[in-house]
Amino acid sequence: MTKAQIGKCPPLLFFDTGVGGLSVLSETIKLLPNAPIVYAADYAGLPYGMKSEAELAARVPALLGRLVERYKPVLATIACNTASTIALDHVRSALDIPVVGTVPAIKPASELTRTGVIGLLGTRATIRQPYVDRLAADFASDKILLRHAAPELVYAAEAKLRGETPDPDVIQQALSGLLDQAGGERIDTVILACTHFPLLREELAEAAGRPIQFIDGAKGIAHRIAYLTKDMSWPVDSQDGIFVTTAELADIAPYRSAFEKYGITQFEKL
Ligand code: DGL
Repeated sequence: MTKAQIGKCPPLLFFDTGVGGLSVLSETIKLLPNAPIVYAADYAGLPYGMKSEAELAARVPALLGRLVERYKPVLATIACNTASTIALDHVRSALDIPVVGTVPAIKPASELTRTGVIGLLGTRATIRQPYVDRLAADFASDKILLRHAAPELVYAAEAKLRGETPDPDVIQQALSGLLDQAGGERIDTVILACTHFPLLREELAEAAGRPIQFIDGAKGIAHRIAYLTKDMSWPVDSQDGIFVTTAELADIAPYRSAFEKYGITQFEKL
């Protein structure tokens, strides 16, 4: 990894379909407050959770290739569980920079659970991935892992970050789909296996009505990014970040203030 050149420091690139990547970005900027940020949202492709493996295996590396060419980041983070569990290997072989993925936090959940019953909320595509089966076999083979697809939470998180109040019935229904399964009453730990879902942590905790720990991988990813870029000389002051999207800029206007909170002030179309 090259040291930053004076006056021109390569950015960290974050990639998701929408606002979900903010749950990863927010932990990263706690550790690297002055790292320049490019946040890419493939709004034209949202929701990834409803797409096929073949479509995402082609779409995600192609978009990341264009983004890397345009912004020359030092590292790319796929801040999306769906894209990571399907396309991480494809992206890594297509790019010559380090690529950090976001995969369901099954290992930490397995260490945290006391009842031995873990819930996993993700998109439809994520919960069916062999990648998730492998994580379960490697790290939670002595635990029960119950899965539920909650694509409606993606839209609830998007609404929240546009400044709207997410519908409590939608949150309740998503959680019931997990907790009402056989054995679900023993779940004490729920993995938020979609980067949009930690943005609804308070709403989910309230809807649960009993103590459940909701966990995600964002802190671990932030530490991994900091470790992989430890030789970088980041600027001494914080930098204005860039938001780039596949959608029309007019369509993302309602999200501007959510991104501005993280110092992302320039908005561009890919
Ligand atoms: N945020 C993405 C994830 O982590 C998915 C949202 C979508 O379905 O586009 O899986």
